[in-house]
Amino acid sequence: MNPVNFTRNEHAAAVLAAYYETPPMAYVHSFGCQQNVNDGEKILGILMDLGCGQAQRLEDADIIVFNTCAVREHAEQRVFGNVGALKKLKEQNPRLMIAVCGCMPQQAHVVEKFKHSYPFVDIVFGTGAIDRLPEMICQRIEGHKRVMRQPEERTDIVEHMPIRRDSAFRAWLPIMYGCDNFCSYCIVPYVRGRERSRRSADILAEFRQLVADGYKDITLLGQNVNSYGKGLGEELDFADLLAMLAAVPGDYRIRFMTSHPKDATKKLIDTMASSDHIAKHLHLPVQSGSDTILQAMNRRYTAARYLELIDYAKQTIPEMTYSSDIIVGFPGETEEDFRRTEELVRRVEYMQLFTFIYSKRAGTPAARLPDPTPHAEKAARIARLVAIQDAVVEKLTAALVGTEVQVLVEGPGRTPGVFTGRLDNNMVVEVPGPAPVGQFAFARIESAKGAVLKGRLV
Ligand code: SAH
Ligand code: SF4
Ligand code: F3S
Repeated sequence: MNPVNFTRNEHAAAVLAAYYETPPMAYVHSFGCQQNVNDGEKILGILMDLGCGQAQRLEDADIIVFNTCAVREHAEQRVFGNVGALKKLKEQNPRLMIAVCGCMPQQAHVVEKFKHSYPFVDIVFGTGAIDRLPEMICQRIEGHKRVMRQPEERTDIVEHMPIRRDSAFRAWLPIMYGCDNFCSYCIVPYVRGRERSRRSADILAEFRQLVADGYKDITLLGQNVNSYGKGLGEELDFADLLAMLAAVPGDYRIRFMTSHPKDATKKLIDTMASSDHIAKHLHLPVQSGSDTILQAMNRRYTAARYLELIDYAKQTIPEMTYSSDIIVGFPGETEEDFRRTEELVRRVEYMQLFTFIYSKRAGTPAARLPDPTPHAEKAARIARLVAIQDAVVEKLTAALVGTEVQVLVEGPGRTPGVFTGRLDNNMVVEVPGPAPVGQFAFARIESAKGAVLKGRLV
């Protein structure tokens, strides 16, 4: 299917200019994953294209957009809390326009809740309607009615949306949208719709532009990048796409996320090995070390197959680091199942581990499973994993003391005079300033404290 091209809505720009006396200031906040952050950058891009300025603080905004995440109950509660707090601002400024979008309003019950319990919210829309925002703003202003858009499934791809990136040197580059995996616990396939890939020529054009604009750290995004290209009618898989992008000359590195273990291949690892442009870091979420649980999760791989790929990667790229997501306390997870997860975490030696207590999501198959394990037991399991992980990280960072590494300087750290940078393998290093923000530099590592390396630029 051919993509749709975004076109500027002149009428909306005129309507906004007439409604606000001075150019309206927009504040966009994205919750959730990088895909959402990238959507938020497009939302801000669209608003600025309509003549808005960018507000640095919520309190200074005429238009507030909360771009939401539905992946866990806690994420949703946070959004409801944050939106609730906007009521006061609206009382002070009746022209304040409040929009809630993203993954939460892709659920009909959430739209209902905003409609009935949050009357000060002006516009509600889902992930597929971002390019319609100018139209919705017109409806709100000219129609004098709130715009509550029902969840809808987008099957096409919109190219050339304006974008206002958060960083001048780190960029997100979506290569595909949606997810077809239907892991039994996960809401994403329901809120993000079916998997669809961007044309490689469109990705390449955006990539080249990013490199030309000086972006140094470019992350390719997709819920399962390994299924890139399905249904596209191009003879190219994710590894091919990666190789094609890494052949673009320039001073940059490429990352990607997320790679689903069921489709990750040795070819992908070989491709990572073949180019210095590709960061030697692999985020390969395992979720559990127990085959029983993996099956109940509908992950479609075993712990043994997962470890086989990790072993291959370790042999092929000895300096590679790994990260993973783990769900603790999936319905029916026993102490025995959990021990398998502990074992796997010890064996792989991840650099980073993102651990989550299972959260029941309405409408997913796992929500119907009996879940007898008490929350306190799940919390205790998480604490055990974190302790294992802390020891692993200490070992991994200690091994780098005395070496010289390349870092991308990201900015001033929390301690005055100290700058932080990131290694190719995703480790964070602190160096005394001054340091060239947004540029690559070399550092000698002098010590390590937990996950953080300390060094000096050379
Ligand atoms: N597509 C990515 C994950 C996106 S969601 C992948 O498959 O790896 C990010 C992480 O949130 C998941 O890896 C999972 O660990 C966690 N997650 C998703 N649904 C969850 C749920 N219902 N409860 C707890 N954690 C969940
Ligand atoms: Fe969710 Fe699984 Fe899709 Fe990841 S691959 S977004 S965990 S359904
Ligand atoms: Fe959350 Fe939606 Fe991403 S549910 S994790 S923001 S795809």
